[in-house]
Amino acid sequence: MTNHKCPPASLLFIFGGSGDLNQRKLSPALYNLFIDSWMPEKFHIVGIGRTPYTDEKFRGHLLDGIQQFSRRKGDQNGKWQEFSKNISYLQMDVGNDADYQKIADIVKQKEQEFGEHPNVIFYMSVAPHLVPQIASKLGPLNICHDTKCTRIVVEKPFGHDLKSAHELNGLLTSMFDETQIYRIDHYLGKETVQNILALRFANALFEPIWNRNYIDHIQITAAETVGLENRGDYYERSGALRDMVQNHILQLLCMVAMEAPVSFDANEIRNKKVDVLNAIRKYGKEEVHKYAVRGQYSDGWLQGKKVPGYRNEDKINPASPTDTFAAVKFYIDNWRWQDVPFYVRTGKRLHEKSTIITVQFKQAPNFAFPPEAALTWRPNRLTISIQPEMDIRLRFQAKRPGQTVTLNPVDMIFNYKDTYGDDDPEAYETLLLDVMEGNATLFMRSDQVEAAWKVVMPIQEAWESRAPVDFPNYSPDSWGPEDAEALIARDGRNWITLPIAHQGVQAHL
Ligand code: BG6
Repeated sequence: MTNHKCPPASLLFIFGGSGDLNQRKLSPALYNLFIDSWMPEKFHIVGIGRTPYTDEKFRGHLLDGIQQFSRRKGDQNGKWQEFSKNISYLQMDVGNDADYQKIADIVKQKEQEFGEHPNVIFYMSVAPHLVPQIASKLGPLNICHDTKCTRIVVEKPFGHDLKSAHELNGLLTSMFDETQIYRIDHYLGKETVQNILALRFANALFEPIWNRNYIDHIQITAAETVGLENRGDYYERSGALRDMVQNHILQLLCMVAMEAPVSFDANEIRNKKVDVLNAIRKYGKEEVHKYAVRGQYSDGWLQGKKVPGYRNEDKINPASPTDTFAAVKFYIDNWRWQDVPFYVRTGKRLHEKSTIITVQFKQAPNFAFPPEAALTWRPNRLTISIQPEMDIRLRFQAKRPGQTVTLNPVDMIFNYKDTYGDDDPEAYETLLLDVMEGNATLFMRSDQVEAAWKVVMPIQEAWESRAPVDFPNYSPDSWGPEDAEALIARDGRNWITLPIAHQGVQAHL
C-alpha cells in the first residue's frame, strides 16, 4: 500500500533503448521508482533500438546495468521479476517511416490491456542529430496530437549553438505543443539543487541579505576527475562551455540568482529563471578574453594512474582546439546583483569531483576586536555542496575558548546524510516521475534554452575565431590553467577549493 498518489497509467518508449544512458541511468531510475512504489499501477516500458534483442535478453542487459550502476543492486526481493514483466524491446529503424506504425500499434494494444488511455512518453536517449529525424516522424502519428497525455523528453545537448537550438525548438513546436516537450537538464533533478529554492525562499533569514549590499561575490565550481569516457565523438564537437556551462552551470546560477517566485507553478519558476538569463551581461567578442578562460588537459597522472592528454584520447584530433575547462566571470545587470561577480568554472581531469556553490558575504563593516584576535578573521560564507558531498555550511566567527581573545571561523553544518540518511533518489528518478506526472517545473522551456545560448555564444564565437595558442595548458590532478587563477586574482579574490569532506577549517580559509 502506498500513502501517496502515483502517476496515471504510462507507456514509455525509450529511443536509444539499448544505449548507455538507458542502461546506466533511466532503467535504474525507473526500477527504483518501482521499488519505492512510485510507478503507476499500470505501466509498460518499450526499449527501442537497432541492435537485435529478444525481450528476455534486453531485460538481462538492463539488469546488468542495475547491478553496476543503480543505488540499489540486483533483484531486491523478487521486485525485479515483477518490474521486468513490464519491459519489452522493439527493434526498429528510426529512419524508416513504416516502422513508426509499430509504435502506434503498441499504443493501441496497451490501451486495450490497461482499459484506459495511458500517458505516452517518448524519451529521446539518442545521438543529438537523430532527435529532429525521430520527432518529425513521430509528429504525424495521431497519438502525438493528444496534448494532455503524450509527451516527448529531449536530452541535452539541446542544439549545438543558438541557431540550431532555435531550429530544433521550431521543429519540435511544429509537431508538439510546448507543454508536451520536456527538455532535461539532469542537474535540476538533484536534491541539493532543488533545495536551493527551499533554502532561499522557505527561510526568512537569507533573502534579506541575498543581494549586492551584503554579498561580495558568488562562485560555482563543477569539477570532474573523469576524462572523456568513450564520448570523444560528441565531446570533440562540444567542449566544456557547451557541455557544462550553457546548461548545468547556468541552471545553478539561475537558482542562486532568481527572484522569489510567487508560486511553484512551472511557468512562474521558469519565468524567473529566464529573467536572470536575460539580465546576464553579454560580452563583446573583443572583450571575451577579459572574462573567460579556456583550458585543455595534458598527459599526466591522476590518482596514481597515467592518463592521456585530451589530444591523445580516442577519436580526438591531435591538434584539437576543444576546451576541456572553462572559467567565466559573469555579471547580472539588475537591481539585486549589479556589480556582484559570479565566477564559474568547470573542467575534466581536475583534482577532485566536486560541485559547489559559494556565496561570499562582505566583510563586517567595523572590527572592534584587538588586531591579534583576528589573525584568522574571515567574512561570512555560505557553501552549498551539490555533490558528491551534500551539505550546506555557514561560516561565521567564534571565540576560541581560553583566556585570550582569539577569533576564528567555524562552520554551522547541515549534512544530508546525517539528517536524512543516504538513500536519496537520483536525479533521473525525480525527473522521470515528474514527466509521468506532467510536472514541467524542473524542465527547460524553449525560451530558457535559447536565452542560455545567448549568454555563451559570444564566448564560443570568440574562442572559435582564435585558435588557442597554449593548449594543452593544464595537467590532470590540477585545478585548471593558470589563467583561471589570474581571472579571479585580478579582482583580489581566489577560487574557493574545498577539499574532500571539508577536512579542517584552517585548510580552506
Ligand atoms: C553531462 C555532461 O551533462 O554531465 C558530462 O555531458 C558530465 O560531460 C556530466 O560528465 C556531469 O554530470 P554529474 O551529474 O556527474 O555532475
